[in-house]
Amino acid sequence: MKVLVAGATSVPGIPVVEALLDGGHDVFGLTRSPTKSDVIAATGATPVVGDVLDRREIADVVETVAPDAIVSLLTTLPKYGPMQLWQFRPAIRLWRDGATNLLAAAQHAGVRRLVAESVVFAYGYGPLGSVPLLESDPYPGPPPVERGSAMLDALRGMERAVLGSGQLNDTAGIVLRYGLFHGAGVPHAELMTRLAKLWLMPVPGGGAVHSWIALDDVAQATVAAVEHGLGGELYNIVDDEPVSFRTYLNAVAAQLHRPKPLGIPNALVRLASPYGAAAFGRTQAPISNAKAKRDLHWAPKYPDYRSVIATMGG
Ligand SMILES: NC(=O)c1ccc[n+]([C@@H]2O[C@H](COP(=O)([O-])OP(=O)(O)OC[C@H]3O[C@@H](n4cnc5c(N)ncnc54)[C@H](OP(=O)(O)O)[C@@H]3O)[C@@H](O)[C@H]2O)c1
Repeated sequence: MKVLVAGATSVPGIPVVEALLDGGHDVFGLTRSPTKSDVIAATGATPVVGDVLDRREIADVVETVAPDAIVSLLTTLPKYGPMQLWQFRPAIRLWRDGATNLLAAAQHAGVRRLVAESVVFAYGYGPLGSVPLLESDPYPGPPPVERGSAMLDALRGMERAVLGSGQLNDTAGIVLRYGLFHGAGVPHAELMTRLAKLWLMPVPGGGAVHSWIALDDVAQATVAAVEHGLGGELYNIVDDEPVSFRTYLNAVAAQLHRPKPLGIPNALVRLASPYGAAAFGRTQAPISNAKAKRDLHWAPKYPDYRSVIATMGG
């Protein structure tokens, strides 16, 4: 298949491009910047330059490449992940306008399928129960903070637009809700390791529970979705074992031969970072990967947090 990857230089971008190439696909990687073209070309994919916020330009790119499928990895967050709501502004623009322009371009050019990145926070924030969430659960959780719904509205709006595609045109839309990235190649995970090594890794109180995923597994699941995903379907791409943030960070510290990290009351975390306190303190969102395993014929190579943490250097 000829596949165009938007966000080819993002954190999951190069692993996805490489996995598509390994799968025998003819891959084109989109970047706004000619200087990043070399990074894409080094993989063996063909770089193409364009900006998804420029509706006409992205329409021309899609028309020219004429791919069978598009993978949209259009998320742009601070290098070490967001800690304040205002840091979502560029991502909001990308989800609201960029993804819409890319989808419209795909529909106009008759691209057969578009697979879009989302994230498990689309389920919402706060305690969402102890039973792993399924794709069939409606959006159960509220925004991270009061009057902080813009990021969640934009993310969920992007998901709905993609999932609704294919009803009136030939472009089937598929959404992948990736778990929290971790392991090699993930800047926020590398920062966490550095802090843990210096005994500076704090654990917010509040009992957060999350589902994680390694980039290798993101890449393989994305290829599986390009090849076998069904239009209009949402898939959770997470590992097999949701884990409390405290247990996770204790395991990181143990792997690095450091003492257990210090617990910080969530009220204190909230003063410095209301978003961080909501996402990594209060949110309990175990997620199920049963549907992706069953329908995409995919299973994570790193099935739990221990298998990734075991690869971290001491
Ligand atoms: N599930 C998760 O845990 C998750 C998900 C996403 C991000 N994160 C974290 O957030 C941090 C940042 O990663 P990121 O992937 O969001 O950001 P990033 O590394 O800045 O990547 C943004 C991507 O979007 C592309 N892009 C941005 N605006 C564009 C536009 N107008 N037109 C076309 N392409 C555009 C960029 O392409 P060019 O710059 O090449 O033009 C780049 O490929 C990392 O720590 C990452 O681990 C975590």
